[in-house]
Amino acid sequence: MFTAKAVIFDLDGVICFTDKYHYLAWKKLADRLGIYFDEQINNRLRGVSRMASLEIILERSEKEYTQEEKEAFAEEKNNDYREYLMTMSPADLSEEVKTTLDALRAKGYLLAIGSSSKNTKLILSKIGLGEYFDAIADGNDITHSKPDPEVFLCAAAKLGVPAAECAVVEDALAGIQAAKGGGMIGLALGGDAENCGLEDYDLKGFGDLLNIL
Ligand code: BG6
Ligand code: MG
Repeated sequence: MFTAKAVIFDLDGVICFTDKYHYLAWKKLADRLGIYFDEQINNRLRGVSRMASLEIILERSEKEYTQEEKEAFAEEKNNDYREYLMTMSPADLSEEVKTTLDALRAKGYLLAIGSSSKNTKLILSKIGLGEYFDAIADGNDITHSKPDPEVFLCAAAKLGVPAAECAVVEDALAGIQAAKGGGMIGLALGGDAENCGLEDYDLKGFGDLLNIL
């Protein structure tokens, strides 16, 4: 149904689920600073960089903070978040995701990760995919996070595949915007990507990739 040579996957919310850990770590910081924060606000952080996430949380702060203070807050959150990540294991990778990835590879697709997270390599190694992908583009490679296409264009360049021949799997609207902005095929998998109006296809589940690629 789609002509592609490579598939680029978002990480959080597509390959595995770290939303709850982001939530708990941001919540701890927000509580300490006396700022209201809930799961709905947390949903706005999907695909958004760490510093941009902090700015969203600080929208409800009565106090103004310096850049130095903000950097310290982001580091504090990240230290707590990484403690949660250390509890992850290959059991956090579903059978459906693993068998679908293996089947795509067997069909000859190149497989990559395109994630805003600077913790991408840690997460992949914890879930047993540390050496799995043909290319990884993450928060350490880019200056503009999604909806800017930079991270996906970086993944495509590392693979050596033209953007038009890359399919991107995303759960976030910002991710579909990034994929389409980069001239790629946008495949939505749940979240606010689904039915956003920009996607080329709504996946019925991860395994549905095998019906369309
Ligand atoms: C994305 C998440 O994958 O990574 C965002 O969807 C997160 O919620 C972003 O803010 C940055 O993550 P990290 O691990 O670099 O703080
Ligand atoms: Mg995501």
